[in-house]
Amino acid sequence: MRITVRSFAKINLGLCIGPSRPDGFHELRTVYQTIALHDIIRVEVKRSAGIEIRCDDPGVPKDSSNTCWKIAERAMSALQTSGHVVIEIEKRLPVQGGLGGASGNAVAVLLALERALKKQLPGAEKLRIAAEVGSDVPLFLVGGTILGVGRGEEVYPLPDLQATPCVIATPEIGVSTPKAFADWDKLAASKELTTVHPSDRIKMFSRRISAWLSGASGVPGSRGRGRAETPLLDLVRTGIENDFEQVVFPEYPELREVKSVLERSGAVYSSLSGSGSAIYGLFSSPAAARKAAVKLSKSGIPAVLTTTMTRRQYWKKFLVSSA
Ligand code: C5P
Repeated sequence: MRITVRSFAKINLGLCIGPSRPDGFHELRTVYQTIALHDIIRVEVKRSAGIEIRCDDPGVPKDSSNTCWKIAERAMSALQTSGHVVIEIEKRLPVQGGLGGASGNAVAVLLALERALKKQLPGAEKLRIAAEVGSDVPLFLVGGTILGVGRGEEVYPLPDLQATPCVIATPEIGVSTPKAFADWDKLAASKELTTVHPSDRIKMFSRRISAWLSGASGVPGSRGRGRAETPLLDLVRTGIENDFEQVVFPEYPELREVKSVLERSGAVYSSLSGSGSAIYGLFSSPAAARKAAVKLSKSGIPAVLTTTMTRRQYWKKFLVSSA
């Protein structure tokens, strides 16, 4: 049986980088949001043994360094099954773009594999395996709006934000995530004596999210307004930001300009996603979003109109076919 699924992308609504940890990762807090842009993944299990990755995109590794390979290997062992796993990746998302493409692909493979084998792993076991493959893999086992803590791999479903028009700009710039973290460490060290300590910044971010969740963001004027009215606006008004902008924008000023174009075009909130280079803008109307996407495309920056996805939409659209 061949299982076909959609592997959706994510954006980060704010990302606060904390201190580096003894394991080499950084403590962080972020709000992940799944969006409708996606790759297509097909999984089939044949006789014999091994893993095979097929993909037309030359930028996608076909060996054991691929997240799909890593998760398939772990899932087959956890399911105590053998077989020849054939994974086909139809790449539509940019590789290395801050949109979690490779991470989403891994979860798509895990869930398609379960279906193909008609076997299931316990939910907690899936989260453990996903976290082993990468920090922003487990979020795709939840979908919708998600709080990420720890190194980003500890995920908690948040109340969904209603589907919101969104423009994703994907400048052709590859940002290395480990380098961006290293640059952040240098910047944080140079600021340490004058600004808030990294672990305190993390606490501030958490408090903002917690206050938002309890419906009182603490921003003058917003108190008393029900969160259900404008949850997204309330969230962005808490002042959450993506720390990576502070190190990525100085290195690639053209990315800051893309964010400015989105803001000038009426984005309610615009930010770098993850360590980039994707930049997104959230809009209150599809018409305004479309205009912004056209403006960016005309200036030579690839940009597409999409929408954020609630958890329910994410799961409803996940499976394409099982035949
Ligand atoms: O977990 P993932 O494979 O996505 O991480 C890629 C790299 O990014 C890690 O090897 C590490 O250098 C860096 N990273 C980090 N702190 C995190 C997540 C990733 O330093 N919370």
